[in-house]
Amino acid sequence: MKKKIAEVLASKIEGFDADKVEQLLEIPPKADMGDFAFPCFQLAKIFRKAPNMIAADLAKQIGEQTFLSKVEVKGAYLNFFVDKTLFVKQVVDKANSDQYGKQNVGEGKTICIDYSSPNVAKKFHVGHLRTTIIGNSLYKIFTKLGYKVERINHLGDWGTQFGKLIVAYKKWGSKEAVEKNGIAELMNIYVKFHEEAEKDDSLNDEARAWFTKMEQGDEEALSIWQWFKDISLVEYKKTYEMLGIEFDSYAGESFYCDKSKRVIDECNAHHLLEESEGAYIIRLDEYNMAPCIVMKKDGSSIYATRDLAAVLYRKDTYQFDRCIYVTGLEQKLHFAQVFKVIELLGYDWAPEQLVHVPYGLVSLKGGKLSTRKGNIIYAEDILSESIQRIQEIIEEKNPNIPDKKEVAHKVGIGAILFNDLYNQRIKDVVFDWDKIHNFDGETGPYVQYTYARAASVLRRAKEFDETAQIDYSVLTDDASIALLKEISRYPEVIENAAERLEPSVVARYSMAVAQAFNKFYHDNQCIVEDKNISNARLKLLSLTKYILKDSLGLLGIECPEQM
Ligand code: ARG
Repeated sequence: MKKKIAEVLASKIEGFDADKVEQLLEIPPKADMGDFAFPCFQLAKIFRKAPNMIAADLAKQIGEQTFLSKVEVKGAYLNFFVDKTLFVKQVVDKANSDQYGKQNVGEGKTICIDYSSPNVAKKFHVGHLRTTIIGNSLYKIFTKLGYKVERINHLGDWGTQFGKLIVAYKKWGSKEAVEKNGIAELMNIYVKFHEEAEKDDSLNDEARAWFTKMEQGDEEALSIWQWFKDISLVEYKKTYEMLGIEFDSYAGESFYCDKSKRVIDECNAHHLLEESEGAYIIRLDEYNMAPCIVMKKDGSSIYATRDLAAVLYRKDTYQFDRCIYVTGLEQKLHFAQVFKVIELLGYDWAPEQLVHVPYGLVSLKGGKLSTRKGNIIYAEDILSESIQRIQEIIEEKNPNIPDKKEVAHKVGIGAILFNDLYNQRIKDVVFDWDKIHNFDGETGPYVQYTYARAASVLRRAKEFDETAQIDYSVLTDDASIALLKEISRYPEVIENAAERLEPSVVARYSMAVAQAFNKFYHDNQCIVEDKNISNARLKLLSLTKYILKDSLGLLGIECPEQM
């Protein structure tokens, strides 16, 4: 409709094409001001005429148009009222497909998303929950647009900390305890190591020696390390399973040890390396950044080296068009350094194709979550608690629904995910159970409940024929039109979310659809005597139901049919 209006207008304005007019078209703040408005201020300067006179002139020239019910002059604005029935038909026709929202802009292109990436032998805490949730949503959004997405879990599974763990395990650990308590036990002995090392510095030397052994391929060292890693992965996978998340690759830092040599060689070839206190660094002063260390005194690689190797490996392996990294904001400098070094190695695609997607902190109502102060919140615990609390709400409010456990799971997880994704990712996330679980608030449960409500109406509508031709004029009341306007936006919303790497765009949208639906449902009875009316309203309800489920799906949230 917007395009059509732009075309008609452009044909009446000298020197303006449809694209230019389309950009100028506005959506008026109120429905009684039309569906689109064209401001004539700009034209006034060009045609040296008062803007309201230009508006009046244009209105006369446009005259009657079949797709417009009215064109009105309001001061300097031309207000366009779209023919409602035609509008309804257009949206219903467009949205009437189980593929609605899908696009092919990404066809033939590959995106790597590096997300979740917890540090082995450490519990998965809420910070890692954020990268996991955001990364998973971006994966779904890009897939919807036709991109091929590689989901990469860049495990933190290498580094001197494993030397410490091996020492600690040999001195104070036991096989039984590790097998029984998993990561929690590994964390215990790790803490113990630090306590003891404060008193006895030689422990640090021992740890370094064990890590060197690991780097040299020592069998014993590597088998203990592998065991720690396996134990950790079992626990991580439990969390992923709770969230319904999978990865295409678990190639973490250790995978890139033997690929670091290439990085050093290429750095040498470009004369980038400089020795500094025995280590090798790359100066980045020119770019206002601290130097990037690529090799330690003892010749071993570090986090940045392994990331540099990973970029090159992924480019060769996946030929990505973009490689996206989802981590906390605190790693901003790290990625800026890595991306710059890749560029300095002559890979001119780096600035455009390597993208850091940072996010804010997680806090519990009052106080930041700290890894040091002991009030860490683990992902597993917060997910279980959410499910538990929803279970209690169900017991209290609706104890007779089927599959209670499954419903509690979907809603409990959905509440956490929605809360995480509802605001721009860079903003901090606050955990406040009362807010997260408020079925009337701007929450996951609210949208899920709206879905379940739509599902329940359709279950009751035994005579509804999904494929029957509907009478579009039934859906021309304000609430139906407002809902249809939301529905018509869906493809744009997904594109916008991808462009901005912002799942919140989708979360906001699903909320807007749910609110528009509830208004529609409040104003219009859907199951009535008149079959003509019933069919049209139920059709709209069914389209809405699809969109709610599909858009929540893009956030990684599932919808129970009953709640
Ligand atoms: N393991 C890191 C951490 O927990 C995140 C890794 C992010 N990805 C990467 N390629 N550096 O902080």
